Amino acid sequence: MSPDTTRSTPRPRVLSGMRPTGRLHLGNYMGALYNWVRLQHDYDCYFFIADLHALTTDYADPSRLKQNIFDVAVDFLAAGLNPGKCKVFIQSHVPQHAELHLLFSMFTPLGWLERVPTYKDQQEQLREKDLATYGFLGYPLLQSADILLYKPDFVPVGADQVSHVELTREVARKFNQLYSPKRIVPGTGGPNASLSLQTEPDPDLLLLPEPQVLLTPSPKLPGLDGRKMSKSYGNSIFLSDPDTVVLQKMHGMSNGGQRPTQNDPGNPEICPVGDMHRVFSDPVVDLMIRAGCTTAQIRCDECKFKAGLSINTIIRPIQKRREELATKPDAVWAALETGAKYATAAAEETMKQIRAVTGLSRDLSGIRAEQSPFDRNVADPRNLSRYRDWLGLEPAILSRNLREIWHKEILPIETQLKAESEGVWLTLNKRRVCVAAASQNGSDEAWIFAVKAKSYEVIVLLCWDNSQRIHDFVVPQKLYLAPWVTAKKQAGKNDLVFSVERLNGRYFMHLPHAEPIDITTTEEVYGIL
Ligand code: TRP
Repeated sequence: MSPDTTRSTPRPRVLSGMRPTGRLHLGNYMGALYNWVRLQHDYDCYFFIADLHALTTDYADPSRLKQNIFDVAVDFLAAGLNPGKCKVFIQSHVPQHAELHLLFSMFTPLGWLERVPTYKDQQEQLREKDLATYGFLGYPLLQSADILLYKPDFVPVGADQVSHVELTREVARKFNQLYSPKRIVPGTGGPNASLSLQTEPDPDLLLLPEPQVLLTPSPKLPGLDGRKMSKSYGNSIFLSDPDTVVLQKMHGMSNGGQRPTQNDPGNPEICPVGDMHRVFSDPVVDLMIRAGCTTAQIRCDECKFKAGLSINTIIRPIQKRREELATKPDAVWAALETGAKYATAAAEETMKQIRAVTGLSRDLSGIRAEQSPFDRNVADPRNLSRYRDWLGLEPAILSRNLREIWHKEILPIETQLKAESEGVWLTLNKRRVCVAAASQNGSDEAWIFAVKAKSYEVIVLLCWDNSQRIHDFVVPQKLYLAPWVTAKKQAGKNDLVFSVERLNGRYFMHLPHAEPIDITTTEEVYGIL
């Protein structure tokens, strides 16, 4: 099934991402996924696995990355993200994330990134890794790119990510300041206020609207030892844990150090097991254990067992789907590829606009072609009517002009020639090409040429006739070699003079004291160059 794109009024857009830490635990589920699953029904949702972000800290050992991505993907789908209702994808499968991150990096001041509180905190916490890197400093900027690429209305995140969304808003403001269409506003204040017109980004035409945080109401979910549930603390219950494992883990859960003997009453408000009941048990069970605990009527064992049962009730359907999906990796991957296709379409739409305003568009419009006196785009370059007034020019000048037209307009664009001397060109493989031009000699169907008496591998003859057409003959040496050698000797230091004549629709090259050479079939034949 593909995401629903048929609605006429667009739904507000939501975007969020999660790092691929491997199988998700209850904290990940309650802190994000559970909320995302609900949002997908009412919003246009984009949810992704932030694999590039994982590399900012784990670049030295990517060996588990792919498996982790897959495990998170399975958890996403098992927990109820429906690829028919929202776009689920892998960050790096939409390369526009990386592209936009790079563009943002051009104008983001270092100070903005150094001041993000998670930067120093994380560096401290992950001391065993070298995080004095460019990529790690840019972590929240990559996140800004993730977000702004889709221009979402809302970004559902936990409290720990608020500073990153704040940075995102700042980046959007700066981007708009630099590149969004401007409107003119009266200057504010000052003695000459009415004179000082200023510009500011037009609020109706902002390229990157600032998104809002949608703070995920995250219930307090402790780990087995009472600290925050976290994979790195080894205190987690995973969505993929079997029933018995959950019961076992819960059996060992901390009660917050209360009830030194089971005859002592406890306080569920400060007990991690109490927190679990509040989140996962139905209200009747929750009330029962509260009453039991505060009166020492229920043993901790039993209370923990009941919490375990409640957790299992919640995660059992997820596990059933998980088991199914885990046996079909192809289907999981295909679902994410489909998600990436939709995400790419949305991302590319934004990138097109962004490339356009940053000078990177592939669209040629806006490029001013250099003005050439000889416009190559004339419909029929061999019709010289537009140069008719040249016919009064001196033959040498006329000839030079014709050669120029020939080179700019008639010579096939892919044929590369290097000018060597007046009227002589070299092909790429160093063959000499003589180009000679003439207009029709009065009413005679004849053209007179004068060229330096040298050797040429090819002679191009340009004949401008009285119907204002130019005929261009590309004559190979083999057609004229023998008489040319003789004529060259005779001419010596003088120009070698010869003619082309038209007879019964055929063209003949006349060299002195030689038989006419039929050059008709060489017209416009540039293959030999
Ligand atoms: N930094 C987020 C976290 O660790 C993950 C993330 C990456 C994200 N890109 C995002 C969250 C974009 C929201 C939007 O949880």
